[in-house]
Amino acid sequence: MVHDPATLAALLSGAGFIAAEEETAELLKCAAGDAQVLDSLIARRLTGEPLAWITGRISFGDLEIRVDPGVYVPRWHSEALARRAVERLPRNGIAVDLCTGSGAIARTLMSKRPAARVVASDIEPRAVACARSNGVEAYLGDLFSQFRARSRARRPRSSASCRTCRHPTCRSCRRDTFAFESPLAYDGGHDGTAILRRVLADAPAIPSAGGAILLELGGGQDRALRADLARLGYSDVSVLHDEEGDVRGIEATLAYSATTDS
Ligand SMILES: C[S@@+](CC[C@H](N)C(=O)[O-])C[C@H]1O[C@@H](n2cnc3c(N)ncnc32)[C@H](O)[C@@H]1O
Repeated sequence: MVHDPATLAALLSGAGFIAAEEETAELLKCAAGDAQVLDSLIARRLTGEPLAWITGRISFGDLEIRVDPGVYVPRWHSEALARRAVERLPRNGIAVDLCTGSGAIARTLMSKRPAARVVASDIEPRAVACARSNGVEAYLGDLFSQFRARSRARRPRSSASCRTCRHPTCRSCRRDTFAFESPLAYDGGHDGTAILRRVLADAPAIPSAGGAILLELGGGQDRALRADLARLGYSDVSVLHDEEGDVRGIEATLAYSATTDS
């Protein structure tokens, strides 16, 4: 097929890939001089398969994260939430990264807070395996289900925790996203908040007086969750925006749950 960088970049650009030159460099690096391998990588990319599945990795902040085929590809716009989660996580605190995918956010917390305990969960076996391969203590299961069972047996000593969950609305997704990535990564109910509401309702049952919760969301989801946050007793609620002013998440302090922390 095409093996010189300029022709490959032109091919990718003509096929609609915006970062054609960067992608060319990635594909050439991944093929490591093997023309047959390069052909197969190019053919896969031309189908629209995510580049990270083809190369097996992606940069997230200053980290390199392994991404296996079938696992949600971490997006750069989640990096700000990960950085904010680091700021909210005490040095020896405990963090639970729900819906962890490849474990990119958990890995960020681990690398910036090495003395903290970071655990993660995902409902997708491939995601859990991938997060584990990135060094994350990841469990297979629905949201907090694994941690509820574990915390009954042995309560975390730290009272501080930080949680993250990403669940964007489907409206903001591109065509390739639907063609390749699992619907589980996007299906948040009719207004995208079903999972977020469950996280807000269940979080106080995990012992964590004074802990923080961070939810990645977008559109009008912050407004849709306001009543839940108030009813469940969350305080210090703030909306996180990106540099273009778009809503990217919310952050709040958890209510102390006396009924579950006896
Ligand atoms: C949009 S991806 C986000 C992954 C990761 N947080 C990131 O930003 O790279 C959402 C992830 O949530 C997982 N998921 C969906 N429903 C879940 C549930 N009920 N419990 C745990 N994980 C779930 C999906 O398998 C998917 O890996």
